[in-house]
Amino acid sequence: MNLRQLGSTGPRVSALGLGAMGMSGMYGPADEAESIATVHASLDAGVTLIDTGDFYGMGHNELLIRDALRSSGRDRGEVAVSVKFGALRDADGGWLGNDARPQAVKNFLAYSLRRLGTDYIDIYRPARLDPAVPIEETVGAIAEMVQAGHVRHIGLSEVGAETIRRAHAVHPIADLQIEYSLISRGLEAEILPTTRELGIGITAYGVLSRGLISGHWKADQPVAPGDFRGVSPRFSAGNIDTNLALVEALRAVAEAKGASVAQTAIAWVLAQGEDIVPLVGARRRDRLTEALGALDLKLDAADLQAIEAAVPAGAAAGDRYIAAQMAHLDSEK
Ligand SMILES: NC(=O)c1ccc[n+]([C@@H]2O[C@H](COP(=O)([O-])OP(=O)(O)OC[C@H]3O[C@@H](n4cnc5c(N)ncnc54)[C@H](OP(=O)(O)O)[C@@H]3O)[C@@H](O)[C@H]2O)c1
Repeated sequence: MNLRQLGSTGPRVSALGLGAMGMSGMYGPADEAESIATVHASLDAGVTLIDTGDFYGMGHNELLIRDALRSSGRDRGEVAVSVKFGALRDADGGWLGNDARPQAVKNFLAYSLRRLGTDYIDIYRPARLDPAVPIEETVGAIAEMVQAGHVRHIGLSEVGAETIRRAHAVHPIADLQIEYSLISRGLEAEILPTTRELGIGITAYGVLSRGLISGHWKADQPVAPGDFRGVSPRFSAGNIDTNLALVEALRAVAEAKGASVAQTAIAWVLAQGEDIVPLVGARRRDRLTEALGALDLKLDAADLQAIEAAVPAGAAAGDRYIAAQMAHLDSEK
């Protein structure tokens, strides 16, 4: 497995990370035994970065990762665990906003450490900017937790260039987690130049746009209750045909390379820079195996040009979140 350095101060991790969100209901029901087998298979393949959030299944995802890591027999130090906090949920799975006050940071961290069954978290990050709390206060509280030994590195998620600079002035930031795919390229204009200037890595999520550009999604695919894709604008009736036409154009490029659409989409993100680590959201071993194949797919300048022509920047129809969630994205302001 190739390794990549997350920022100038962050950990060195596998070039692909595993995102565990889909294992806790965000894409409808998931099979717990298969989820754990998928974590084990990723570790066996050399994946050393696992991403979670305390709000994924309201703690379920952290407990699942604890069980998977324990049963894998690996030493704690072999795997970097990235945890997001701050999103507030209700008992029906609704989203109530964010809380990144210093006392909330410390409270969330205490619960995550207990659920994960560990005494430190490798990268700890607020899931969203809390508009009521200056980022300096949130990062300052995490920095205290670094001093206390409960956290190794500080990350950010979905914030814009100004917030990145303010946060980094308080404590070095290892990585920014942000959506980045062939059809979500908003970070390229200002955010990516800023992280590169400051020596901050990128952990890219949604590299398959939540399955939309995986090559497996169908326009008439049934969506389970609670599946994010049931409300996502890009999957909605008015937009899906435009977006799947882009996938078909990408499929032609992929087939010419002897690769799958998903592998081509992941390899494209990998090719955008050594500072970028895609998080793949596989929740089954077959999907994971496919995703890992992207590491062997080398794209040259002509391939990248063909991919650009198939899926030009800005060609996707629909926003990446519903309006209420777009409003929480500092990265989009
Ligand atoms: N910071 C943030 O705001 C934020 C937001 C979202 C996610 N994340 C993190 O990023 C991780 C990845 O994000 P994501 O799950 O939205 O991204 P993704 O990798 O774009 O989408 C994952 C979905 O794509 C489908 N898929 C089809 N072929 C696949 C393949 N070969 N490999 C993997 N998936 C395939 C799967 O759906 P089926 O299983 O239904 O086929 C899977 O659940 C999450 O797990 C989470 O840790 C962070």
